[in-house]
Amino acid sequence: MERIKCAVVGVGIFGEIHVATYKTYEKSELVKICDINEKRAKEISERYNVEYTTDYMEIAQDKEIQAVSVATPDFLHKEIVVEMLRNGKNVLVEKPMATKVEEAEEMVKEARIQNKILMTDFHNRFNPYFIQLKESFDKGDVGNISFIYARLSDRIDVPLRWFTWSGKSGPHWFLFPHIVDLSCWFANSLPKKIFGIGKKGVLSSYGVDTYDSVTAILDFGGFYATIETSWIIPETWPSIVDFYFKLEGSKGRLIVDFNEFITKISSDVKKELSFPFVIGNTPVYNKPFGFASLPIQHFVDCVFENKKPIISPEDGLNNVKIIEKIVESVEKGKILEFE
Ligand SMILES: NC(=O)c1ccc[n+]([C@@H]2O[C@H](COP(=O)([O-])OP(=O)(O)OC[C@H]3O[C@@H](n4cnc5c(N)ncnc54)[C@H](O)[C@@H]3O)[C@@H](O)[C@H]2O)c1
Repeated sequence: MERIKCAVVGVGIFGEIHVATYKTYEKSELVKICDINEKRAKEISERYNVEYTTDYMEIAQDKEIQAVSVATPDFLHKEIVVEMLRNGKNVLVEKPMATKVEEAEEMVKEARIQNKILMTDFHNRFNPYFIQLKESFDKGDVGNISFIYARLSDRIDVPLRWFTWSGKSGPHWFLFPHIVDLSCWFANSLPKKIFGIGKKGVLSSYGVDTYDSVTAILDFGGFYATIETSWIIPETWPSIVDFYFKLEGSKGRLIVDFNEFITKISSDVKKELSFPFVIGNTPVYNKPFGFASLPIQHFVDCVFENKKPIISPEDGLNNVKIIEKIVESVEKGKILEFE
């Protein structure tokens, strides 16, 4: 079987999941990886036995590469994505598609001009817990939406220790993409009005100039979603994420509560109690396992079969528009109309 020739630009924490997936999926062949940090590029190159470069143009200009994942920091997607599209590649970009609406618009425009796939990696659409709820919702099990409440937050070590670029992102850009996408997916529409409120102080006291937390109400007209995100969960919390989703319907309710931990490790050696989030990405005997790999495989399938991904370029763009509008509302202290 001819396999799709793939590459990954940005092979940090999440890019490695793309690398491992392309390396092991039967329909893809990992041809090259790229990272501006040569030490990291070399490390991944050796771990996965794949050629590396520190210049993404080498990937753009490599005629045999058909599909590229872009997993650079949140604010560094646009130039690389547009360059890949211009050179005829299909692109899977990490969420958020961009941190500016005009950048996301440029990416979507280029994908249309080149007639190539541009998919944003909203991996919760592949999370079996949400798939189960959506199926139930679509069958009418809980009637119409009255309201949605969703929370996705991270422990403070994520902004303080995982990234050097946290101040150029924030919980709103790093985490809201997921619950904004889930809200719109269940609502099957876009909000009509948006209100946001946010708080700064803790992260800025560590020199990371971004919001500690943001809460927003998305008014879909007839029903609404309240979404909240924080990047300051204390380090003593046993899980890296705090993830909860609830849809109250006219005839029932749907809930996913990832705080009902199944896996618990209490270690006197590490002096730590941890509740690992297993279903996202837990390699099993060196093969990727978990829903984080599924959208990457779906992307390969779409290139392979020349079909449209379940996540459209506009889904990625609208997500950026909504988050930008939330930030505008936080700054203006006003309810804002959404187009
Ligand atoms: N970490 C997570 O849990 C997670 C989950 C889902 C999605 N994401 C998304 O994935 C993207 C990457 O996040 P991450 O956690 O892997 O960050 P990271 O900082 O671990 O990795 C980013 C990598 O991109 C490299 N890079 C920066 N500029 C580059 C350039 N011009 N060319 C090539 N490489 C470049 C960096 O050197 C770094 O290795 C972000 O958009 C993030 O929101 C992360």
